[in-house]
Amino acid sequence: MLYGRTTFSKFIIEEQRRMAQPDAQLTALLNDVQTAVKYIASAVAHGALRSAPVAEAAVNVHGEEQKPLDVIANDIVLRSCEWGGQLCGMASEELPDPYPIPPQYPRGRYLLVFDPLDGSSNLDVDVTVGTIFSVLAAPEGVTEPTLTDFLQPGTRQICAGYALYGPAVMLVVTMGRGVHGFTLDPEIGAFTLTHPDMKIPAETREFAINTSNARFWEPPVQRYVDECVKGGSGPRGADFNMRWIASMVAEVHRILVRGGLFMYPKDTKDPAKPGRLRLMYEANPMAMLVEQAGGCASTGRLRLLDVVPQDLHQRVPVILGSKSEVERIERYHREYESGADREFASPLFNVRSLFRAA
Ligand code: F6P
Ligand code: MN
Repeated sequence: MLYGRTTFSKFIIEEQRRMAQPDAQLTALLNDVQTAVKYIASAVAHGALRSAPVAEAAVNVHGEEQKPLDVIANDIVLRSCEWGGQLCGMASEELPDPYPIPPQYPRGRYLLVFDPLDGSSNLDVDVTVGTIFSVLAAPEGVTEPTLTDFLQPGTRQICAGYALYGPAVMLVVTMGRGVHGFTLDPEIGAFTLTHPDMKIPAETREFAINTSNARFWEPPVQRYVDECVKGGSGPRGADFNMRWIASMVAEVHRILVRGGLFMYPKDTKDPAKPGRLRLMYEANPMAMLVEQAGGCASTGRLRLLDVVPQDLHQRVPVILGSKSEVERIERYHREYESGADREFASPLFNVRSLFRAA
């Protein structure tokens, strides 16, 4: 057995010691998040052995089917993190409104925003899912935060991360000084540093997008994907590979490990929804991780972390990953807006095309 390696608990204590103003509350909060993640990992690992049949499918605030494990994971995070005195409020994908800390517990200065089980439509088919979280500070003096206190741009995140329930269970975090990945060692039950200082290569030849939405995309995204699909004989002069897991957390992890591009862009499928992913507990934490690893995260028009939220469950277009590809797509958006791309004509998306625009 290898002992003496850096556990997550040791890492977060040492990381705080290096800070100008060490914060024991943040260390304690991350420790509680770690506990929540271990409970969720155990619940997920039991799969169909434990999932009780549901009489009636529940629906969450977004009108999406709520799996029993969505509800369990949400409850695990609330119970694991409400008691410690580091938080004054939480908000979750699964709850319509912010969750107030019960009156019997002390309050702290932080807000925890989370997606308890991202990609949960993959649970039935035993594909990787995860938990995404973001830590913000409540405005000075606030102990009973209102909705407005949560609506802070991603640049204000103090810490962000995700857990991955895959072949191995992982916890990947940033506290604003790089991105560090920990693998759960099942022999000792501790997250152990296995991926220090993760970096996204600037160049990539791999992209991820749900192409069944192609006809609803905006022209700059159609242009980008069309050029990738044309491969070596197209304008990019290189063959591209495509992946789509339909679990954002797993796609971002792949990008942190080997580079790549992930997109859930703006589309016209439902004009009320300018994107699929949620800003505060999906896009923002991932954007902070990606930037900390040297990548870029954008809406196509704006840096994701600069978007000022208007609503807790606001959706946003997401384009993130290797720097050079994200910058290229941002350029395609600018060229589209200025009309400079009118030369661009895609046989794939034109009238006689495979993915004909609606
Ligand atoms: O939480 C939203 C989510 O499940 C992401 O994890 C994933 O990237 C996306 O939705 C999958 O969308 P689609 O069902 O369109 O493939
Ligand atoms: Mn999600």
